[in-house]
Amino acid sequence: MLEQIKFTTQSILSKTNNFKPQFGIILGTGLGGLVNEIKAEFSIPYSQIPNFPVSTVEGHSGTLIFGELGGKKVMAMQGRFHFYEGYTMQQVTFPVRVMKELGIHTLIVSNASGGMNPAFEVGELMLINDHINLFSTNPLIGKNITELGPRFPDMSEAYKKEYIELALKIAKENNIKVSQGVYAGLSGPCFETPAEYRYIWRIGADVVGMSTVPEVIVAKHSGMNCFGISIVTDLGVEGSVQNVSHEEVQHIAKAQEPKMSLIVKELIRQIN
Ligand code: HPA
Repeated sequence: MLEQIKFTTQSILSKTNNFKPQFGIILGTGLGGLVNEIKAEFSIPYSQIPNFPVSTVEGHSGTLIFGELGGKKVMAMQGRFHFYEGYTMQQVTFPVRVMKELGIHTLIVSNASGGMNPAFEVGELMLINDHINLFSTNPLIGKNITELGPRFPDMSEAYKKEYIELALKIAKENNIKVSQGVYAGLSGPCFETPAEYRYIWRIGADVVGMSTVPEVIVAKHSGMNCFGISIVTDLGVEGSVQNVSHEEVQHIAKAQEPKMSLIVKELIRQIN
């Protein structure tokens, strides 16, 4: 894996005139609009990046964008890889390994989720302050590669508190309502049954989705800081679980895009 990471990183550097991003951004479901805020210098389709899988799901296009956002150098993934697409956990998280090798210190992740906390509304923006790994596996299973990180990585502050505080301040200054909570990540691709939503809520999660956890685990393993923000696109609140579709998820996420973009952009501007 080490050789693949180095090979892919070299290939990217050769296509980007040695562009060295500081921030990595993974743009989730329907949140690709943040890309319009990036002053792009280089764009590379995943198909031209060695060892990168190609994104298959509707609404995820599959391009790496290098440029400037909030006065900082960023690399954004337009389109991410999901475990439910059939990729291995190593494939899902490979881009995060490459980010680290490129010198990125902070990973910013966005996603869409179903909300179980009864205080939440459709369209709610939630800063992820912790997660629960309900994937049946973990991207770090297997022989540990010491050069990449420790065998037993600490997860006591998976989502950096300082960034959450900063994001709360930015939201307040811009009259944007945000909450905080715990994201449970599981494989999908089914949305949850009412009993599953009830179970996930009772074990301590506020929202549930099908991404983010693998990438954050690998980012922490490699010593990066993480910030995650979720758009609640549907509710799995006990007693009133409603029908949910991928189209509805995308539609709701799209409507909230400008607010999320503003928070992420300002956050990047204010992080040193
Ligand atoms: N469950 C899982 N993933 C999701 C949901 C959900 O309700 N909404 C958006 N992504």
